Amino acid sequence: MNQITPFPTVDATAAERFLDRMCEIIDHGATAAMISVGHRLGLFDTLAALPPATSEKIAAEAALAERYVREWLACMVTSGIVRYDPAHRTYRLPAEHAACLIRGAPLGNMAVFAQHIALMGAVQDRTLATFQTGEGTSYGDYPCFHQIMAEDSAQTVTDALFEHLLPLVPGIEARLEAGIDVLDAGCGQGSALIALAERFPQSRFTGYDLCADAIETATRRARAAGLGNIRFETRDLTGFADRACFDFVTSFDAVHDQKDPEALIRGLKGALRPGGVYLMQDIGGSAKLENNLAFPMASLLYAISCVHCTPISLGQGGKGLGTMWGWETAEAMLHEAGFGQVRRHVLPHDPLNVWFVARV
Ligand SMILES: C[S@@+](CC[C@H](N)C(=O)[O-])C[C@H]1O[C@@H](n2cnc3c(N)ncnc32)[C@H](O)[C@@H]1O
Repeated sequence: MNQITPFPTVDATAAERFLDRMCEIIDHGATAAMISVGHRLGLFDTLAALPPATSEKIAAEAALAERYVREWLACMVTSGIVRYDPAHRTYRLPAEHAACLIRGAPLGNMAVFAQHIALMGAVQDRTLATFQTGEGTSYGDYPCFHQIMAEDSAQTVTDALFEHLLPLVPGIEARLEAGIDVLDAGCGQGSALIALAERFPQSRFTGYDLCADAIETATRRARAAGLGNIRFETRDLTGFADRACFDFVTSFDAVHDQKDPEALIRGLKGALRPGGVYLMQDIGGSAKLENNLAFPMASLLYAISCVHCTPISLGQGGKGLGTMWGWETAEAMLHEAGFGQVRRHVLPHDPLNVWFVARV
């Protein structure tokens, strides 16, 4: 064993290796924050649409200040995302990289998820306070949260609705075509429900969410789409106890950070008519840390849990189960709520989540 002072018992080789790893982590974290900036400013989309171009040309196309664009490009080049030709001072985004970095990207736009990293930085002082006091937070503490969440779920939920999600529930498309009542609990900006309402004009759609700003956006979008079969309402689902008024209930990543997930699931079951179905998407990690070591993006999910999901639940007076409350916990709650049949699915397009189809 090599010896390094002032830690004479340390394995110096292992310590140096870990130092390298730390440098890599910090470097990648900075890149992720800048990917978020590039996404918000449309810079990846601009680059993808251009042949190799100078920073002046890229900045002009994006209507941005060249000095900042050049500095951002340098970060993207040194992180291996953008290629630079020093002879011509031109930059290009390889098509293979654009395939997961631009709006409408065929592999899904990973830059959308980088926004979670930027948001963590934006709210760090608030996070420090929660650790020091044990208090919770509220949605108003997170700038742009609903917009980021809508972009996130547009990829895992809305874009996948007809190809991957409705097929999980045999017979539901025919019932939606005939005309049924549908609830989306914790609907956020409502894009999934709007897509359903457009596809199935005979059915009636209701979206409830705690946050008035998300509901405002959802309502505006539904109006712009000219839909008469959908309504959104700002509503706290804590204690939700509407009885037998829906045939199909959905919740997309909207249970684990509630005040009382168990009571909500019970309430959603009670709101179903006989023969009703509940389709629930939630985070697919395990309740046991040791099972999550190889779970995709587990560190990101635990980080989101520290900064958002746990304090949001605590802030509502809840238990703070956290993002990794576990599919086992969710499944047990569905059984305890009295669902007669519960099926669990993991879908290739959405490896971070688990999908439950629960029938009354
Ligand atoms: C992670 S977001 C998911 C939003 C949306 N389903 C989507 O997939 O984009 C969780 C949503 O649950 C809503 N929510 C949290 N607590 C709630 C409560 N007590 N009552 C109603 N909605 C709540 C939040 O406002 C937020 O929009």
